[in-house]
Amino acid sequence: MIDFESARLAVTLLDVAEGREAELRTLAARYERILAAKGFGRAELLRDEAIPQRFYSVRYWTDAVSAERCHADPEVREVTSQIYAISRVSHVVNGARRPDPMRLVLDERRMRIESDRRTGFDRRIENRGRAEGDRRAKNDRRLGPRRLKDKTTETDLVGSARRARERADAAFSKFRVGAALQAADGAIITGCNIENATYGLTMCAERVAMFKAISEGHRAFTRIAIASDSPQPAPPCGACRQILWEFGGNLEVIIANLADQKSVHELKDLLPLPFDARLL
Ligand code: THU
Repeated sequence: MIDFESARLAVTLLDVAEGREAELRTLAARYERILAAKGFGRAELLRDEAIPQRFYSVRYWTDAVSAERCHADPEVREVTSQIYAISRVSHVVNGARRPDPMRLVLDERRMRIESDRRTGFDRRIENRGRAEGDRRAKNDRRLGPRRLKDKTTETDLVGSARRARERADAAFSKFRVGAALQAADGAIITGCNIENATYGLTMCAERVAMFKAISEGHRAFTRIAIASDSPQPAPPCGACRQILWEFGGNLEVIIANLADQKSVHELKDLLPLPFDARLL
């Protein structure tokens, strides 16, 4: 019986890499066994009704304390990082606050994020620059973590942006934009542009994605894909470049249209001579 007062739920969406489905099932079964054996709660893996490579991991814990214990458990962590290695993970429902947003980043991936490149967020709220000064060497002006050099599980980030675009509310301009932002732990957070009758309160897809991500506890990012139905792929507007820079550092920016044209940029090239917290 679930005690609704104390129980906590989490739902995670898993897009498993092709050919790795059996492995995912084995890992999920192991995960379920650990949760049951240690009395943390229960877990189930469910396949999406329409998308064959997509699964939902539904977990519920007896209470918040069990959830926290479960997150800290070394065996659970090991299985979780193996699941991360073969699938793209997005958090749909978080029943228990994640104590450390980087917790689930695979160790080997974590190694590839240079240790001195703390997240943009940390660097903004604390002066944690190097002893010799806050400026980085040569042309390297990013605030955030270094981008991951290789993408272990290639995701269709552009596809996610195109799908997010479908949800745009652009009744006035009719120009619909979608964005898909990838966090360092692999999670994908999407956004679409949202307009309103006063026009001026319009929010671009990129900022919707970034603000959603920040509000959900993500602090380190690697890439963003932006999709619009335009003759040329539309680059992010100036306001979005600023926000992406401050919260995401030197992101890889992939701009695409629906006609399969795309180009890849580094944010530092799209925002030369940036204003940011180092100047304050
Ligand atoms: N828009 C975005 O969502 N992102 C961009 O980078 C450029 C513009 C939106 C804002 C507005 O709703 C519509 O596109 C037309 O400007």
